[in-house]
Amino acid sequence: SLELNAKTIIKADALVDVETGQLIKNPVVIIEGNRISQVNSGSAANVQLDDTVIDLSGHTLLPGFMDMHVHLTSDATVHGYRRLAVSVPRATISGVKHAETTLLAGFTTVRNVGAPGYTDVALRDAINDGDVIGPRMFVSGPSIGVTGGHCDNNLLTAMYGVKSRGVADGPWAVREKVRENIKYGATVIKYCATGGVLSKGTKVGVQQYTFEEMQALVEEAHMRGLTVATHAHGTEGIKTAIRAGVDSVEHVSLLDDEGIALALEHGTYFSMDIYVTEYILGEGAKQGILEESLAKERIVGQQQRDSFTRALNAGVKMVFGSDAGVYPHGDNPKQFARLVRFGMTPMQAIQTATIHPATLLKQEAELGSISTGKLADIVAVKGNPLDNIELLEQVTFVMKDGEVYKHTEQ
Ligand code: ARG
Repeated sequence: SLELNAKTIIKADALVDVETGQLIKNPVVIIEGNRISQVNSGSAANVQLDDTVIDLSGHTLLPGFMDMHVHLTSDATVHGYRRLAVSVPRATISGVKHAETTLLAGFTTVRNVGAPGYTDVALRDAINDGDVIGPRMFVSGPSIGVTGGHCDNNLLTAMYGVKSRGVADGPWAVREKVRENIKYGATVIKYCATGGVLSKGTKVGVQQYTFEEMQALVEEAHMRGLTVATHAHGTEGIKTAIRAGVDSVEHVSLLDDEGIALALEHGTYFSMDIYVTEYILGEGAKQGILEESLAKERIVGQQQRDSFTRALNAGVKMVFGSDAGVYPHGDNPKQFARLVRFGMTPMQAIQTATIHPATLLKQEAELGSISTGKLADIVAVKGNPLDNIELLEQVTFVMKDGEVYKHTEQ
C-alpha cells in the first residue's frame, strides 16, 4: 500500500552527530517505518504526497537518550520501611506511570537494573506488546547478591525469614541465579559487589562476593550472551568486579588509581550516578530513607564526584546511569548538567547517554546515533544544547521506533 512507502521527514536547525562529535547544520532526516533511511544536511528533501513533514526549526535533534541505571518500578517517595508495604502488582502499576514519564523526558532506552518480582520483565513485555507507553527496556530481574548484602532485604528480624529472590552464595548458586533470571526474561545481569547506601546494615566500602563467585557469575552470563552490571561503591569490590570481567560498574564511589588502571585495561564502563546524592540528602528523610543511609550518603556523595572527575580525566569509558527510582522518574536529565559541572564537555555528556550505552549493550548497529539504518529514536530541544546543557531537561519532541510520542511548542 501507499502507507508502507510513506516517509517521515524531520527538518531542524541542527543535529548532534555523536559519532563524529560534530554539530550538523540544517539536517534533514528521513524515516521509513521504524528506521532512519537518510541523514542529509542542507539539501531539499524530495517530498511525496503521502509523506509527513515535521518542521523543527529552531530546534536541535539528538539521538534518543539511554539511561543505564534505572528502577522504573520503584517510587522515589517510598523508601526504607515503607517499601515493605508495596506489593509486586502495585510496583508494576507504578512502573507503567514511570515508563511514560521517562520516555517523555527523552529517554527512549533504559537498562533496568534490579527489580524484585520481575516487575521489569512484565513492564518491558507490556511496552513491547503496545499495551502501555515507555522506553525500550533492557531488564535484569532481581539483583543477585550475598545473604545480608546490599541486594538482600535486611529490614526485618530473623523471625520473619525474609530473603530477596536474588540471594545466592557460592559459585554454583550464583550461576543458578543467572540461569533463573534468564529463564524468566532477563536480558542483562545485575549483582552487588559491595555494600550500599540505601540497604540496612551494609557497609559501602566492604566487598560482597569473593573473586571466585564474581568470576563464575560473569562467565555464566557471558556464556549466555548477556552483559553484567555490578553495584560497587567500595575500592576492593570495584577492582575485584573488574578483574572478574564485568561490563559496567555502577556508582564507583571509592575509586583508587589501581581501579582506574584496571578499568582502562579491561575496557570496563563506569556508570556514575552523581546527581542522586542531591535528592537523597535534600528529600530523603521525608521519603523514609533511614538515618543510617543518610549518614552513608554524606560520606559517599562527594567522594563519588571526585572519583568521577579522576576517572574521566584518565579516559575511562562512561555511560549515563541515574538511579532514577531512588529520585523521581523524569528527572533523569538533571544529571547532564552535573556531568558537565564535574568535568565533561556537553558533547561528552551527550555521548555518555547515547552512543556509549549503545556500545555497552552491544546495540551500536541499532541504537545510539541518528544514522542511516538505525532505529528511529530521535529527540529534540529548542536551541543548542552544546551552548546550554540544561536544555536537555526540556525535550520538546520524542520519537521512538519511528513513532512520535511528544511534540510540543516550548
Ligand atoms: N542505590 C545506591 C545505593 O543504595 C544509591 C547510591 C546513591 N548515592 C550516590 N552517591 N550515588 O547504594
